[in-house]
Amino acid sequence: MLPFADALARALAFASPARGWLVPLLGCAEEDAPRLYAAADGVRAAHQGTDVQLRGLIEFSNVCRKNCAYCGLRVANRGADRYRLTPEEIVATARRAEQLGYKTVVLQSGEDRWFTAERMAAIIRAIKAATDLAITLSAGERDRRTYARWREAGADRYLLRIETTDPALFAALHPDGDLAARQQCLYDLRDLGYQLGTGVMVGLPGQTPDTLAGDVIWMHELGAEMIGVGPFIPHPDTPLCDAAGGTVEQTLRLVAVLRLVFPYAHLPATTAMGSLHPLGRERALQAGANVVMPNVTPGAVRPKYAIYPGKICLTDDAEHCRGCITGRIHAIGRTVATDHGHVKRVTTITDTNNKE
Ligand code: SAM
Ligand code: SF4
Ligand code: FES
Repeated sequence: MLPFADALARALAFASPARGWLVPLLGCAEEDAPRLYAAADGVRAAHQGTDVQLRGLIEFSNVCRKNCAYCGLRVANRGADRYRLTPEEIVATARRAEQLGYKTVVLQSGEDRWFTAERMAAIIRAIKAATDLAITLSAGERDRRTYARWREAGADRYLLRIETTDPALFAALHPDGDLAARQQCLYDLRDLGYQLGTGVMVGLPGQTPDTLAGDVIWMHELGAEMIGVGPFIPHPDTPLCDAAGGTVEQTLRLVAVLRLVFPYAHLPATTAMGSLHPLGRERALQAGANVVMPNVTPGAVRPKYAIYPGKICLTDDAEHCRGCITGRIHAIGRTVATDHGHVKRVTTITDTNNKE
């Protein structure tokens, strides 16, 4: 295991990710963390500039057939008040997002099979016909043919967090899940030409810096282009209600390491960071992140998408969040991007080295 300073030097030389230097960075001491964050902020500035990409998040259904141990939307949580936006409401919300200046909408849901391959494809086509928006989907695990249908309909990107690549931890968290099957979904999405997003939660029970290092190495092999990481926040109506959960500081270390390993990736400052600390998203933006995903879900259903307690923006409307986030971005000396924010694919020597 390398000392912190040597590990940071390896990272800044864009060495291929290896546990020997990832672990000392991911588990670094409090007094070393500011140097890690500053290094990541420098790489962000060099490769992404000052622009922060905004993605308007539409949480279109909280119906879910799965039972992930951490999530308030799990099917066994009978206390969850379920809703499903109609296709017309989803398209209208996307149009509203465009009016508010968003260039991308993220359509996120539980694993809700009411949205069949064809129903969802029709929604994607309708949004593409009515707007100039890029579309990111985050609707869980589906078969390759369904992903292909949605891609043909016009979807640009897909977010599917792997959550953890540790087989035992994955199995413990997902009574109805299979790590290899989830990984296969990501390989399928990659093959189909989606801009590929994945990620993990931080602070899961039993997770260590070594576990996270394994996740980083796997995401690098995958060729992830967007990586969302956030603290695990225990939900009272789940089996993990008494777990400790993740912290802002643990998560910042991972955000920073990801920026060093993936200079060109889009890394969101996640809502979960803002939910744990009033300046959690700003701190992530200053430790390597370059994306924020403000909520544009209609107010009536917003509080029902309760994946964890204490989620921010539940009583705010889309217009308010748009103004709020712009102010926060400007307050830390950054700018709001005006382009679609598509991922940059490998074009430079630095990035080629980084992908080796
Ligand atoms: N159902 C889809 C899926 O699981 O990929 C997309 C929606 S799911 C609510 C989006 C993400 O929420 C998950 O990938 C997970 O990382 C995160 N999440 C769920 N429960 C959480 C919790 N208690 N704390 C923090 N993040 C959580
Ligand atoms: Fe469903 Fe996604 Fe929550 Fe798992 S994380 S229970 S798949 S909404
Ligand atoms: Fe929603 Fe600040 S981003 S209130």
